[in-house]
Amino acid sequence: MSATTHASNELPDNPLRQLTLDQLRQRTSEKWRRYDPDVLPLWVAEMDVRLAEPIAKAVTDAIAAGDTGYPSGTGYAEAVSAFAAERWHWTDLEPDRVRTVPDIMLGVVEMLKAVTGPGDAIVVNSPVYPPFHLFPVFNDRRVIEAPLGADQRIDFAALAAAFELALGRGGRAAYLLCHPHNPTGTVHTRSELERVARLAADYGVRVVADEAHAPLVAPGTRFVPYLTVAGGEAGLALTSAAKAWNLPGLRGAVAMAGTGARADLARMPEKMSVSISHLGSIAHTAAFREGGPWLDALLAGLDENRRLLADLLADRLPDVRYRPEPGTYLAWLDCRALGLGDDPAAVFLEKGRVAVNSGLPFGTGGAGHVRLNYATSPEILAEAVDRMAAAL
Ligand SMILES: Cc1ncc(COP(=O)(O)O)c(C=O)c1O
Repeated sequence: MSATTHASNELPDNPLRQLTLDQLRQRTSEKWRRYDPDVLPLWVAEMDVRLAEPIAKAVTDAIAAGDTGYPSGTGYAEAVSAFAAERWHWTDLEPDRVRTVPDIMLGVVEMLKAVTGPGDAIVVNSPVYPPFHLFPVFNDRRVIEAPLGADQRIDFAALAAAFELALGRGGRAAYLLCHPHNPTGTVHTRSELERVARLAADYGVRVVADEAHAPLVAPGTRFVPYLTVAGGEAGLALTSAAKAWNLPGLRGAVAMAGTGARADLARMPEKMSVSISHLGSIAHTAAFREGGPWLDALLAGLDENRRLLADLLADRLPDVRYRPEPGTYLAWLDCRALGLGDDPAAVFLEKGRVAVNSGLPFGTGGAGHVRLNYATSPEILAEAVDRMAAAL
């Protein structure tokens, strides 16, 4: 099946239904090669999709032309700015507030370096994407957790306490916000983000928002970019096409400054911006510019899978608690009632031959939980839940 559009007002075919398990097993990427060939991999944030046609064309054209030199120009920034205007009603993201970076996490590190110094504290909302715990530490920062509430949303009392602790020894501090939140898929609301901005201003903490999953927010839920909320002007943010169009192998991302934070972005060394892969930049630019119809088809497929997963769990693993959130294709499963200990992922792997992420590296709140990636075909998802149930 091809990813063509049937008619001008119809979505392309569901990108999650175009590859068989045999085809996926030919892949050489981490998702498909980390575990034995009998294991169903629903772990790392790669999707089981083909490349969207406009991206494949842009990259293959570049390769055919030998256009594999150093990156140049502001095409990626302009494409993000146009996408932000169309999808997020963010109409004043001037391309001069956007700079390319090699990938999201290197961009995060640069933004944290712009607003904090060695020994300073970085506040994160655990459970959170494990590199949020690791990358600040590699860069001589301390990490302080402000755990999410039981409703998977920011707990403002915990956040205030973490800011207090972060500044207790003097120095500066930053809050690395994950928006939407990995692993829960929580999409923060405008009023929550405004409250973040007020609290951060009261304490003098700088906000760096990782918006890697922003294009993946489900239809019907509004994604509000942090830099657009009242008080967000002092913030810095990052986004990328890598998650939404499955481009981790074609690396790239952009760092963005609030209207009051241009100077911080300008301090980033030029070398960092030009270290984006040229092919990555071509792919990401095509995604933001021309990948909208494919993305809409994907989002519809993810919505189906999100509902399917909830139904499958209710039927086959009723003791697993799952609160579906619209943010991305990751499900955070509370498996504590199964009696499998702190690391149920190890049991699902060993006995069920399904790879999901252990919750433990996500920090406080991760024990007894797993993260499941449902960006796959409904058949693989159903088989995975069956196997997990059979592992008990
Ligand atoms: C919140 C978040 N930030 C960053 C990344 C990694 O992005 P990159 O590979 O561009 O560093 C991921 C990948 O899953 C992620 O979920």
